[in-house]
Amino acid sequence: WPVFAPYVKAINELKAARNAVILAHNYQTPEIFHCVADIVGDSLQLAQEAARADADVIVQCGVHFMAETSKILCPGKTVLIPDPEAGCSLAASITGDDVRRLRDSYPGVPIVAYVNTTADVKAEVDICCTSSNAVEVVESLGAPRVIMLPDRYLAKWVASQTTVEIIAWHGACEVHERFTAGELEAYRAADPSIRIIAHPECPPDVIAASDFTGSTAKMIDWVKRERPARVLLVTECSMADNVAAETPGVNFVRPCNLCPHMKRIQLPKILDALVYMREEVTIDPLVAERARRSVERMVNLRS
Ligand code: 13P
Ligand code: SF4
Repeated sequence: WPVFAPYVKAINELKAARNAVILAHNYQTPEIFHCVADIVGDSLQLAQEAARADADVIVQCGVHFMAETSKILCPGKTVLIPDPEAGCSLAASITGDDVRRLRDSYPGVPIVAYVNTTADVKAEVDICCTSSNAVEVVESLGAPRVIMLPDRYLAKWVASQTTVEIIAWHGACEVHERFTAGELEAYRAADPSIRIIAHPECPPDVIAASDFTGSTAKMIDWVKRERPARVLLVTECSMADNVAAETPGVNFVRPCNLCPHMKRIQLPKILDALVYMREEVTIDPLVAERARRSVERMVNLRS
């Protein structure tokens, strides 16, 4: 931790001078999550907080689609991402052209886009969702069939929770698709008292082998509420590090998988972002306007 201290001090000072707010996803490393972030959360919470942000500058500690979502919701603010190469295998799996072709193939069927998509894709769909509200969003449309993109596993999980017929795209999260039911069963065989909780981006047999499924925020809430003696979080590695600091007595068992994109965000790059005001996220205003309708429809669903 001493190695982080000068960065933490400089970032927090500059943040105040720039009237900036730092939004950090639950997968950010503990020194970011606990020492420089003003707001932490899952994709839905970060989108909601971006919409409310009372600051001139948003520094997004997360991946590019998250920074785009903030820019979509806050067109008048400067949105910075400390590493513009922080991508996402889900966002990379589909384009706006793909969505237009889907619309032609399924006329009249509403399209829901996971927030893990580019602004171009969000501009083409009817509404966005996150893993926190996906079932609620799908059911809010009142349609018998809904297209859900781009995560085929999230779509399968939603299909298991609703009577609405789900038509899926073929994307997958490169982090969550690597977990197997076999590795979970081995942990359970070694310790039958272990609790296993999984993110809905995991394959269906992994979810079936788990005790609870939910977004990153819902997983954190579950651990804080249940206080299990031993728990395995089937998701990105930093989650356990971040929750462990707030739940003494809970023993977090690995395996976990790293998201290489999330791990591109580091303290020196956050400092550079604030010093040089880079990299600024920009979106074609016409695309942003259409994408905003999809994101705002989601954000306003329950407010
Ligand atoms: P949530 O934090 O919304 O559950 O999303 C997980 C994720 O993979 C973000 O990249
Ligand atoms: Fe994308 Fe998966 Fe990384 Fe989340 S964990 S940013 S879904 S690649």
